[in-house]
Amino acid sequence: MTKCIAFHSYKGGTGKSTISSNLSASLAKKGFTAVLLDVDVYAPSLQDYFQWEPKKSINDYLFENANVDEVIHDLSTLLNKFPSKNGEETNPSKGKLFVAFSSTSKDEIYKLDGAVRQEGSKIQLLRKFLMLREEIVSKYNADFIIIDTSPGIRYWSINSLAIADTILLSLKLDGIDLKGTRLLAKEIYESLTKLGTKSYLLLNRAAGYCLPPGQAGEKTSETQEIYSNIAGDQKTVISKLNADVGMDTILSIPCYCDIQFDSNEFLTALRYPNHPFAGNIDTLIEKLQEMKS
Ligand SMILES: Nc1ncnc2c1ncn2[C@@H]1O[C@H](COP(=O)(O)OP(=O)(O)O)[C@@H](O)[C@H]1O
Ligand SMILES: [Mg+2]
Repeated sequence: MTKCIAFHSYKGGTGKSTISSNLSASLAKKGFTAVLLDVDVYAPSLQDYFQWEPKKSINDYLFENANVDEVIHDLSTLLNKFPSKNGEETNPSKGKLFVAFSSTSKDEIYKLDGAVRQEGSKIQLLRKFLMLREEIVSKYNADFIIIDTSPGIRYWSINSLAIADTILLSLKLDGIDLKGTRLLAKEIYESLTKLGTKSYLLLNRAAGYCLPPGQAGEKTSETQEIYSNIAGDQKTVISKLNADVGMDTILSIPCYCDIQFDSNEFLTALRYPNHPFAGNIDTLIEKLQEMKS
């Protein structure tokens, strides 16, 4: 059975695109069939991760009656370019990676934005979007459909959440994210949970990986004190948030400065399979599989 996972958040920059693209590629590397959809229609970014310029996009499927095969790009050969994790058996011949991109053309984005403001075309587009999911399930035999959405309360984000069976809400531990996460939980997730959708918090760019100030060379008592308070604070804040919104935290991924400060986006988990970020993606896969059984 196909598992459909949507990544969502209140704010932008919480790691939806990074985690969804690395997750999809790692699933395929492990032998699964993963179909990744870029439904962040106002700010598509997945082209960067896969270094791919699609001829046709999801927009063409929605508006121009393009066939599903024209907008779902088979990027499985990319997988063979990357090394395997030390000692791990991979199954590249079996694993499949498909990606559907959103158009980055300004005109296409305006067109989509205009169309969802008119009731008639809005419903028509929604029907096509549902059809896309059905076609992926029936034609691609996908183990996983993974959707990267826009942050906040947006038409296409809500549609994406509605067609998913699992939602991963990514957040950083800052005040706006915490407040926004509570808002999303109340306004959107509560009603989806009643319909059977499972939703989890995914903490990203959490404190913990960077060297404590003493080891990093800055030996002021203030920095030391702030640092030692952070980890304890995070635990308290998160367990309170879990209780308040009725959602568990599926995983907490630390902030890796090397990923944060690299000026390019790429598939860290595949390029550096022994990087601790890749380990986090593996843990996420294990947790998703546990849910599946
Ligand atoms: N765990 C992490 N550690 C460090 N940097 C990260 C991490 N996750 C994501 N990033 C970086 O944060 C930025 C925002 O991530 P992105 O995936 O684009 O967020 P979103 O899609 O939610 O807007 C990117 O530059 C990305 O490389
Ligand atoms: Mg993004």
